[in-house]
Amino acid sequence: MAAETAVIVLAAGMGTRTRLPIAKVLLPLCGQTLLEYVLDTCQELAPEHSVVVLHHGMEEIQARLGSRMEAQGCQVIDQGEPKGTGHAVQMALKALDRKLGKPFDGRVLVLYGDAPLIPALRLRELLSALDEADLAASLLSCETLDPTGMGRILRDEDGVFVGIREARDCGEDELLIDEINTGFCAFRSEDLRAFLPQLAIENSQGELYLTDVFGLLVQAGRSVDALLTPFAEEVIGINTLVHLAEARKIVQDDILYGLLEDGVYIEDPSSTIIEKGVRVGRGTHILPHTVIRKGVQVGENCEVGPFTHLRAGAVLEEGAQVGNFVEMKKSVLGAGSKAKHLTYLGDAVIGRGANIGAGTITANYDGKHKHRTTIADKAFIGSGSILVAPSEVGEGATTGAGALITRNTKVPPGVVYIGVPARPMRKKGGES
Ligand code: UD1
Ligand code: CA
Repeated sequence: MAAETAVIVLAAGMGTRTRLPIAKVLLPLCGQTLLEYVLDTCQELAPEHSVVVLHHGMEEIQARLGSRMEAQGCQVIDQGEPKGTGHAVQMALKALDRKLGKPFDGRVLVLYGDAPLIPALRLRELLSALDEADLAASLLSCETLDPTGMGRILRDEDGVFVGIREARDCGEDELLIDEINTGFCAFRSEDLRAFLPQLAIENSQGELYLTDVFGLLVQAGRSVDALLTPFAEEVIGINTLVHLAEARKIVQDDILYGLLEDGVYIEDPSSTIIEKGVRVGRGTHILPHTVIRKGVQVGENCEVGPFTHLRAGAVLEEGAQVGNFVEMKKSVLGAGSKAKHLTYLGDAVIGRGANIGAGTITANYDGKHKHRTTIADKAFIGSGSILVAPSEVGEGATTGAGALITRNTKVPPGVVYIGVPARPMRKKGGES
């Protein structure tokens, strides 16, 4: 029987180098936190066991991702004050053993919570290298133009891997090495049990470095291999906001070019933001400076932008159009309907073939609660209308320019409402 695999995700650090007061793994990357990327990859690998090591920001991480981790079968542990990546793995292994009621026996894959872009297949390569080359440990290395802050791969004159030196402990010559440790690595559980207790804190950070295990293994005559990957973009580790911006660009291009290939006409990808999981139908034209957040659905042959902001829960049905400075949130714009200029649609349901005039606002929030606005098919909302929710505009009804539709108003189908507050328009010569 093939050996079992345990994945250990290290996410206990605060991430002081981002200089932000939130746990680093909660930073958003195209609509999803860093940790969610790593959890996605872990899910794809479908290991027998997975342990997530947390500490800084643990409460918030649990609040936001606790149920997801539980559903995925992750064992979540508190490392206590983080004393280094070696310490984190040691705590994880102990917790796993306790849960199993016996020492875990199998392969251990370590993932860092701040490295979101690694594909599962690369990690499978690391795991299979353990068996195929009969290694005690395998790790992924990469040559990079900017190795600043990264652990350097040390090799002997024959090019054989001998260990890793953390950047802060490197001598001048070692700092010139451009082959770095990406952080992704795999071990056999018995080796971790033997060598983790030998780690020492004699280094510039006073931490127990997981990366010292490799040197210890080599010194004990065991073979370790650093697999050099050419895919530098996949192994990005996010320590600073500059790294986050670089990663965002990579993920963003991936999303945009995927949509272009599916027949979504994005005029200027460089000024367009579309988050992960957004669905856009074929033939839709997206104009520059458009922001489409997670959880938005845009149908076929729509037009979006320029300068449109679609937030979570916005749905555009086929052929709908939203234009300059239009913001939509939790709202449906029915097939063929248009809101082309300077409009806010929040908690609104708009039918088909409606026209939402320039400057229309659905006033959905009364200071305490959000309320719904309903606009039926073929309604014509005049420029500058304000619709205080909850309110309704019937099929084919019209509001005049500048109309204030007050709370709880129901404009009957086909009727014209004008004024402030808006009232049915009197026919010329009619009764008052
Ligand atoms: C680490 C590696 C370095 C490698 C780099 C790649 C070590 C000692 N160094 O450095 O060789 O080049 O990643 O990006 O491993 N964490 C814990 N508990 C701890 C310490 C860290 O869970 O006690 C977590 C952090 O939250 C983070 C990950 O481990 O997600 C890596 O820690 P970080 O401090 O970012 O390590 P690097 O300095 O980047
Ligand atoms: Ca890091």
